[in-house]
Amino acid sequence: MTIRTALSQGYKILEDAGVPAARLTAEVLLMHAVQQERSWLYAHSTDELKEVWWIHYGRYLHERVKGKPTQHITGHQEFYGRDFRVTKDVLIPRPETEHVIETALAHMHTGDCVLDLGTGSGCIAITLALESKSTVFATDISRAALDVAVDNAHRLQAKVQFAAGDLGTAFADATFDIVVSNPPYVALGDRASLQIEVREHDPALALFGGDDGLEVYRCLIPEAARLLKPSGLLVMELGEADAVREMLAGWSGIEIANDLAGIPRVVVARKPA
Ligand SMILES: C[S@@+](CC[C@H](N)C(=O)[O-])C[C@H]1O[C@@H](n2cnc3c(N)ncnc32)[C@H](O)[C@@H]1O
Repeated sequence: MTIRTALSQGYKILEDAGVPAARLTAEVLLMHAVQQERSWLYAHSTDELKEVWWIHYGRYLHERVKGKPTQHITGHQEFYGRDFRVTKDVLIPRPETEHVIETALAHMHTGDCVLDLGTGSGCIAITLALESKSTVFATDISRAALDVAVDNAHRLQAKVQFAAGDLGTAFADATFDIVVSNPPYVALGDRASLQIEVREHDPALALFGGDDGLEVYRCLIPEAARLLKPSGLLVMELGEADAVREMLAGWSGIEIANDLAGIPRVVVARKPA
């Protein structure tokens, strides 16, 4: 079997199983099996697929058809133009979260002290550290997630100080110019309606915010008020905009930015001076 035939067979298997972006997924899985870039696949389209490649590729196709996300098969996800390692212990960074980066960068100043609360893979903290001249700290309640974040920071040569803890407890004695967070915001009752890729493969700790999806915001907002300097800024990804806006009563300069689908996705609020 040639590379080209393997690609078209993989595409057919994925499409028949209803996997979205079947052609792109077949390419990514074959690239992972042969450990080569996309350009190599096309330059070698008439080459024979080695047996070992076919074995790996077949297994990846089977796993993807069964609902395992492509990122958990390859162990990688791109975020803000950089390659992040991902495992079952961290949320796969989402494109929507790039709006959190854009919003935070638009409000940041040289030398700011920034805390990423609930860092997961480290995608927000590492990106902010690499895109700005700020001092970045990050925390997560999951030590397993933090191990992945530390590894990503090392691979991407980002200077971020990590510490494990519930909310901001690991940095209880510090104060920050900006607290940024993408907290878990799915309501427990919505679990059954999630795609299998999310329900079965993203960590529950990264997804669910209690019965109404707002439980972490209820703790995070007062915690951020404690951690922020006077007039410091809170930047959060949103699940439910209206409810979170109500929780921010007393904060000033509240702005809500939409994502590309027009859904309210990021809130910025300033702690009262
Ligand atoms: C939605 S994920 C976001 C991960 C990453 N920041 C991103 O945007 O891809 C939420 C993260 O918050 C962490 N988390 C949940 N509850 C927490 C808590 N009480 N204190 C600290 N971190 C928490 C989870 O372990 C998870 O890594």
